[in-house]
This record gives sequence, C-alpha cells and structure tokens, in this order.
Amino acid sequence: MKVLLLGAGGFIGVNLAERLLADGIHETVAIDIQEEKISEISHNSALKYLHLDISKDEAEVDKLVAESDVVVDLVAFANPSLYVEDPVGVYDLNFTQNLKVVDQCRRHKKRLIQFSTCEVYGITAAKAFGLDSRDHPIPFIEDETPLIMGPVKNHRWIYACAKQLLERVLHAYGIRDDFHYSIIRPFNFIGPRIDYLPSEAGGGNPRVFSHFMNALLYGTPMKLVDGGRNYRAYTYIDDAVDCMVRIIDNPNNICDKQIYNIGTPENETTIAEFARLMKQIFDEEFKQPGDPDPQIISVSAEEFYGKGYEDCDRRIPNVDKARSHLNWRSKHDLRSTIYHTMKYFVNKHRVKQTAKTA
Ligand code: NAD
Ligand code: UGA
Repeated sequence: MKVLLLGAGGFIGVNLAERLLADGIHETVAIDIQEEKISEISHNSALKYLHLDISKDEAEVDKLVAESDVVVDLVAFANPSLYVEDPVGVYDLNFTQNLKVVDQCRRHKKRLIQFSTCEVYGITAAKAFGLDSRDHPIPFIEDETPLIMGPVKNHRWIYACAKQLLERVLHAYGIRDDFHYSIIRPFNFIGPRIDYLPSEAGGGNPRVFSHFMNALLYGTPMKLVDGGRNYRAYTYIDDAVDCMVRIIDNPNNICDKQIYNIGTPENETTIAEFARLMKQIFDEEFKQPGDPDPQIISVSAEEFYGKGYEDCDRRIPNVDKARSHLNWRSKHDLRSTIYHTMKYFVNKHRVKQTAKTA
C-alpha cells in the first residue's frame, strides 16, 4: 500500500513515519515544510521526503494524492498558545487548507485518515452545568458524547471548532458520496520529538511537557496554569502509533467512516500532579550534580496565554471502539510514558552539554 503522510515532519508524523519504515510493509511518502525532526530519520534510504506546503504546492500535492492508496493528514497548528495568538491562522490552516486535501482525496477517490483532536469534546457536561468535574469522571465516547464549546469571546475554541467542522464535512461526504475516511481524536500524546525546549529554541510557548522538561534542564519555573487543577490523560507515542498503523491497515474495512479516540484513561492526572511526577522521575532517574532544582509556581491563564484562553477541564477517553475494532490498548503507564519521553530529551541535552565543554 502507498501511504502519503502530510505534516510528516511534526511530532506524530516523524514517529509514525519511523514505524512505517521499520515495518517495511508500506511504501511511504512524507511531506512537510519543516525538516528538523524528520532529518533524524532521513538516514533511512526508504524514506521519500518532499518539502511541500499543502496551501501553496497544490498541484504537487494533488499528484501525490492521485498516486497514493491512503492519505494521512496531520497538518495543523496544534499548540494552544497559537489558538490564542493567531486564531485566524489556526482556522485557515486547520480548516480551509485541510479542506483542500479532503477535496483532493474525494476527486481521486482515495481513503483519508484525518487527524482531529480530543479538544472537539470541549468542556465537560459537569462544567457546563456548573458542577465540579472532579466529582464526575465521565469518559468521552466517539459517537455519543455531545461536543460543548465555550463562548466565542474565548477564541481558544477556534481550534476545536475548525477540527469539528472538518469532521462534520467528512461525515457529510461519507453520506452523500460514499467517501471513505477515518477520523482520529488523539488524547495528549507525549514522546520523543514533541515540540521543542524554549531555552534551546530562543523562546516560544510549547505544550506542557516541553515547558516542564525545560524547567528540569534549564531551571525555568514549572508554571501551573490556574494551579494545575485541570486533568489530562497521557498516551505514549509508540502506543498511539501502534493504533494508527492498525487504522491504516483497516482490517476488513472496519475503520471506514469511523471516528477513533486514541488515549489512555488509566493515565489520567491533574497538571499539578503531572509536574510533581515529572520532577520526581527526573530526580530519581536522571539528575546529575549541577542540574537545577526548579520551583513549581502558579500563574493565571491570562498571564500565561493572554485573553481568550479557556481550558478543557477534564477529558477521559473511552477507547472501547479501538479495543473492539482493532484489538488495541496502550501498554505504557504514566510513569513509563514520562520516563521514556524524558530520556530522549535528557540524552539530547547531555550530548549538547558534552559538545559544549569538549
Ligand atoms: P506538530 O505541530 O508537531 O506537527 C504538525 C506538522 O504540520 C508540522 O511539522 C508542520 O511543519 C506541518 N505543517 C504546518 N503547516 C504545513 C503546511 N502548510 N504544509 C505542510 N506541512 C505543514 O503537531 P503534532 O503534535 O504532530 O500533531 C499532528 C496532528 O495531530 C495535528 O492535526 C494535531 O492537531 C493533531 N493532534 C495532536 C495531538 C497530540 O497529542 N500531539 C493531540 C490532538 C490532536
Ligand atoms: C493540546 C493541544 O490543543 C493539541 O495539540 C491537542 O489537541 C491536545 O493538546 C492533545 O494533546 O490532545 P492541551 O492539553 O490543552 O491541548 O495542551 P498543553 O499545552 O499540553 O496543556 C495541558 C494543560 O497544562 C492545560 O491545562 C494548560 O493550561 C496547562 N499548562 C500548560 C500548564 O499548567 N503549564 C504550562 O507550562 C503549560
């Protein structure tokens, strides 16, 4: 099977490409506009990587879609600080440009695997009714749970709304034109190559793991937004990729016109607990003399992100569908998920330190 990966140079894309190359079953073509991460696997001569922009290089992308059997679309702005800073850019890339890919797939009658997000679920019903979601651990189910967004003035939701509209468009084409698609809703994957460390990148506002890892290596404070009271359930990238590969393989076409949560309900934690656990694992497994001892402090959401941020209070995946259709479940618990992700960043950092002192 010929697999076309769009956005293959990002965190999920590189990990998925690496696995597809290791399996050696499918022919993989990868495209992106950033080479930094994919260069880590470019020694593999089977990798066919092309620098192409889905919004500008439409003719080239269209040709690649026509030549493929399945298209996996990972292209998006996927970082909450961007949803607040550049909501129009998020709408444009995550909806308008992605819709072009949908149209290319429809025209060429190719199966599309579209990356959506767990953020489409929005806030919990408990929060919407003024209750504390701490007392209501209700998992999100793909084809049952209502999707509840905050008000328009909280423009963080433009990301989730753009992704949700794209899902609804795919569903509509499935009904009208028998378009073949599968939708993936990832729940907080972490692992090697997630985002970047701000102290190494000259600043920026990545997702939470990278901020906390930066704190442990460079001594910046671990900032708990609004006290870190909200929950996330983390999945190790290798487990997530294992599910993605099963969706690509699509046994007996079971994944056609289906939405899948990929997540690990057992790995749920508040962000405050996550910070403490990261610090504990770092101290036990990786700390060396001279490493900093970062403070854990609380900051307001407005101070951290600016106006227009509203958090998802709790999101627990129900993964029964991935289990029954694909016989998939995660293998890594939260400690192992953090440990393996941390190991990648610590090793990279130590190599840099050694090179500096040499
Ligand atoms: P990422 O930012 O690491 O990867 C996105 C990639 O898209 C980047 O490499 C970027 O260069 C590329 N890209 C951006 N504009 C492009 C363009 N015009 N043409 C070609 N490539 C372009 O993000 P990720 O974490 O790997 O996420 C991948 C997908 O999964 C996204 O759709 C995201 O919304 C979704 N998702 C991820 C998570 C997660 O846990 N990481 C959770 C929910 C949803
Ligand atoms: C992110 C992005 O929206 C998407 O990539 C994706 O849809 C989703 O993750 C996912 O991975 O499933 P979010 O979980 O809110 O959403 O992103 P993070 O930046 O990792 O934030 C997680 C939590 O930590 C939030 O409550 C945030 O306020 C908090 N946070 C973040 C901190 O307390 N401190 C920080 O330094 C950064």
